[in-house]
Amino acid sequence: MSALLQVRGLRKAFGGVQAVQDVDFDLAAGELLAMIGPNGAGKSTCFNMINGQLVPDAGSVVLAGREIAGRPPREIWRLGVGRTFQVAATYASMTVAENVQMALLSHHGKLFRIWPRAASLHRDEALELLAAVGLRDRADEPCSTLAYGDIKTVELAIALANQPTLLLMDEPTAGMAPQERNALMQLTRRLVKERGIGVLFTEHSMDVVFAHADRIMVLARGALIAQGTPEAIRDDAQVREVYFGSGRLVRAARAGERSGDRAGGQAGRSAAGGPAAGGP
Ligand SMILES: Nc1ncnc2c1ncn2[C@@H]1O[C@H](COP(=O)(O)OP(=O)(O)OP(=O)(O)O)[C@@H](O)[C@H]1O
Ligand SMILES: [Mg+2]
Repeated sequence: MSALLQVRGLRKAFGGVQAVQDVDFDLAAGELLAMIGPNGAGKSTCFNMINGQLVPDAGSVVLAGREIAGRPPREIWRLGVGRTFQVAATYASMTVAENVQMALLSHHGKLFRIWPRAASLHRDEALELLAAVGLRDRADEPCSTLAYGDIKTVELAIALANQPTLLLMDEPTAGMAPQERNALMQLTRRLVKERGIGVLFTEHSMDVVFAHADRIMVLARGALIAQGTPEAIRDDAQVREVYFGSGRLVRAARAGERSGDRAGGQAGRSAAGGPAAGGP
């Protein structure tokens, strides 16, 4: 079975800086793949080459068997690559439902300028999406009245309105409280598993990564230094040394194990090299 997304030999330099070098990975439908790495490792550059905002210097990005590297963002979006943004971007004066309706109009290829006469267009579909993310009862409130965590959730509904096959999430839980973060990732996880959407996400919170990713890639200075299950990454000596260099990773890995949320997670597996379970 071929992967939903196949990335091979992806490269990008900015002047003398090799931001991304020879990155290879696959992503399956319904899989949550985290890309982690220190600031400046090249994560956003990778994302921007996949969604078309940057043209790669070399390499290929194959989505469902079709080469998309170098195509314009709008075309890549049409081919089913959705994204959410680090900073929430909804229309504050519009209601929650209207924001989702706008996204549906766009997905169905209708023009924004018909909006004033189209307030009822796709309303049922929008309400269905809002029910799926747990915001059906907030549908008719202006977005400006929502808490930040709820706005991020509306953004998830907006991203789903385009029926993506691949969803790119650049720091989806940035700026959120820890509990909200886990709720949003749990919701994302459930919805993408139900719909068979592949997710590539970056995240600086290791707790979120280890609790919710099926697989983790580690990028350092533009190159992938490891990829594997959270268990394998946690135990990878090079990752610990190059990236984490402390006990922070081990603690996050154990927090992830405790959540028991990850599909295929092995809650009873002992943490090789980690401290005994149960300590703070
Ligand atoms: N448009 C650009 N022009 C010049 N250099 C850039 C540009 N975009 C990124 N870079 C450089 O490329 C490298 C990778 O940056 P990138 O933004 O991809 O890192 P990142 O992993 O997303 O970091 P962060 O965790 O801080 O978001 C960095 O050295 C950065 O300074
Ligand atoms: Mg970035």
